[in-house]
Amino acid sequence: MADTTAASANDRTVDLAPVLDALATDGWCVRPDFLPAPLVEALARECRLRHATGGFHSAGMGSGAARVVSESRGDQVLWLEAHDPHPAVADYQGQMEALRLSVNRELFMGLRDLEAHFALYPPGARYLRHLDRFRDDDRRALTAIVYLNDAWEAADGGQLRFWPDAEGTGPALEFFPLGGTLVTFLSDRFWHEVLPARRERLALTGWFRRR
Ligand code: OGA
Ligand code: MN
Repeated sequence: MADTTAASANDRTVDLAPVLDALATDGWCVRPDFLPAPLVEALARECRLRHATGGFHSAGMGSGAARVVSESRGDQVLWLEAHDPHPAVADYQGQMEALRLSVNRELFMGLRDLEAHFALYPPGARYLRHLDRFRDDDRRALTAIVYLNDAWEAADGGQLRFWPDAEGTGPALEFFPLGGTLVTFLSDRFWHEVLPARRERLALTGWFRRR
C-alpha cells in the first residue's frame, strides 16, 4: 500500500491505513483518538468562542431554497471557510485534506473538496434518523465527524446511533461523542441519528464532495 501517513502541524504522524482499510471493507469507520487531545481542546475552545460571539445559526435540512429550519434537528452550526486562519482549525483542515488525498489515491473516490461546520447541540438537542445526502444535492460522498467533548458518559446522552446495514433495518450501534474520535462513512449509505444530549455537545462535521 502507498504511504498513507500525514504529518500534522504539530508534527504528529497520523496513520490513515486502518481508516482506509475499514472504509474499503465496510464503508464506515470509527477511530478513537484520531486527533490529539491538545488539538481537540483548542478546537473546542475556538468552537465555544465563535458560538459566544454569535457566529452560529440554527441548522436546517436541505440547502439553498429548500433549506428549512426543522424540528428534526436542534443543533446550531457555523460553516468554515476553506482556509481558516486559526491554527487549530487549519490543523484540522490539513488532516482532513490528508484523508481526502489518501481516499482518492487508495479508493478512487474522486473527492474534490470538504464542506465542514462546527456543530453545537445545546442540552436537549437531537438530530432524528437521516441519511447525509440531500435530495437536491447528491455531491456529498463521504461524511467525516470529529468530536470535541471531554469525558463523555452514557448519562450525558447524545450518542451517535448508527445502522451499519445498508437498509437501516438491522440492529444499531451507538458511539459516544468523545473528544478526538473520528466517525467516517459513505454519506448515501448509512442511516444515523443523534440521541438527545443532556449536556452541550460539540463536533466538527464535514462532508467530502464529488465533482
Ligand atoms: C450530521 C450528523 C452526527 C453527529 O450533522 O449530519 O449526523 O454525531 N451528525 O454529530
Ligand atoms: Mn448526518
